Amino acid sequence: MKRVVSFDVFHFSMAFLLFFSCGTSNNAVVSPAANQGIFDFASRTVMLNNGVKMPILGLGTYRLTPAEAEESVYHALLDGYRLIDTANAYMNERAVGRGIHRSGVPREEIFITTKLWPGDYEDVARAIDDTLARLNVEYIDLLLLHQPYGNVAEGYRGMEAALKQGKVRSIGISNFYEKKVGEIMSIATIPPAVLQVESNPYYHQVVMREYVNPYGTVLMAWYPLGGRVDEHNTQTLLFNEETIVEIAAAHNKTPAQVILRWHLQTGNIAIPGSRNPDHIQENISIFDFELTDEEMRRLSALDTGSGAFDFSNVDEEMDFGSFGTRDFNDQE
Ligand SMILES: NC(=O)c1ccc[n+]([C@@H]2O[C@H](COP(=O)([O-])OP(=O)(O)OC[C@H]3O[C@@H](n4cnc5c(N)ncnc54)[C@H](OP(=O)(O)O)[C@@H]3O)[C@@H](O)[C@H]2O)c1
Repeated sequence: MKRVVSFDVFHFSMAFLLFFSCGTSNNAVVSPAANQGIFDFASRTVMLNNGVKMPILGLGTYRLTPAEAEESVYHALLDGYRLIDTANAYMNERAVGRGIHRSGVPREEIFITTKLWPGDYEDVARAIDDTLARLNVEYIDLLLLHQPYGNVAEGYRGMEAALKQGKVRSIGISNFYEKKVGEIMSIATIPPAVLQVESNPYYHQVVMREYVNPYGTVLMAWYPLGGRVDEHNTQTLLFNEETIVEIAAAHNKTPAQVILRWHLQTGNIAIPGSRNPDHIQENISIFDFELTDEEMRRLSALDTGSGAFDFSNVDEEMDFGSFGTRDFNDQE
C-alpha cells in the first residue's frame, strides 16, 4: 500500500493559498478523509476525495470500433478488470454497454468512466440522459468534461447537478491545464475527484499533480503506454527504453507491465487501451510484483516534462460547434 497524496506542510500551504486566491465562492478545497488518495494494491482501488472507491487499473476504449469495444470490454471484465473508460466522442458507448451486460458481472461491481464533449457543456442534463441510454445503465461512476474548451463552467455546474440527482457518482475533468483547472476550482462546490491527463514514464505531470493535490484530486493517465504506434512513436521508444527493458527482465515482466506498474506506484490510475485479449490479460497481470525504490528512481529520471499534446496551446476560442452538432446517438 502506497500513500500517494500527502497533505504535508507544503500541500497544506498550497491549499490555503489556492483557497484565498480563488475568491470566496470557492468551496473546492477539501479536508482529506482517512484513506483518501491511497492506492490500495490489495483491493486494487483508491478512495477518491468524495469517499467513492475507484479501481486503479482499467481498460481504455479510444479508437476501438463498436465491435472491438464490445469484445475488449467483455474480455477485460472476465479477466477481472472493474474499470472501463469511454467517452461520448469515442462513438462506442452502446458497445461498451453491451460488453458490460454480456459479461454478467453485476453493475455495482463495475466502475464506468465516460466524458462529455464541449458542444454539450451547455446542455449537460440532456447529454447525460443520452449517455445513460447509450450505455444502458442507471448511473455513471465518473463523468468528466473531456476538453478544457467551451463553456466549462456551465458544463461543470451541470455535472454537479447530476451528482446531486444520483445520475453520476463522481465528477472530474480531462486535459485541463493549470489556468483552466483554476477556473473550475473557482466555481466548483464539489472539487473534481479525478483529473485525466496524458502521462507515461516520459511525461510524469509533476506540475499538475502538485497543483491538484490540495483538492485531493487523483490523476488518471491516458496514453499510459505512449498511445497507439500508428499515431505516435512514444510507445516504440518506451518499449525499447534501456531502463525499462532492464527492469522488465529483472522481474520477468514485459515493458508494458513495468510501465503500468510504474503508473500505479506513482499514483496514476491507468487505463491501457487494447483490442487484443492477450494484451488485456497481460496488462492486468501486474499485481504480483513491485518496483523497488531504486527502480522507481531510475524510471523517474526518464521524465522529459512534455508529451504528445499541449492543450494550453490550442485556441481556446476554437469552435467545437461541429462536434456539438455531431449526433453521438448515431452509433451501432
Ligand atoms: N481524455 C483524453 O483526452 C484521452 C485521450 C486519449 C486516450 N484516452 C483514454 O486513455 C486510454 C488509453 O490510451 P490509448 O488507448 O490511446 O493508448 P495506450 O493505452 O497508451 O496504448 C494503446 C496501444 O498499446 C497497445 N497495447 C496495449 N497493451 C499492450 C501490451 N501489453 N503489449 C503491447 N502493446 C500493447 C494497443 O494495441 P492492441 O490493441 O493491439 O493491444 C494500442 O495500440 C484510451 O483508450 C482512452 O480510454 C483519453
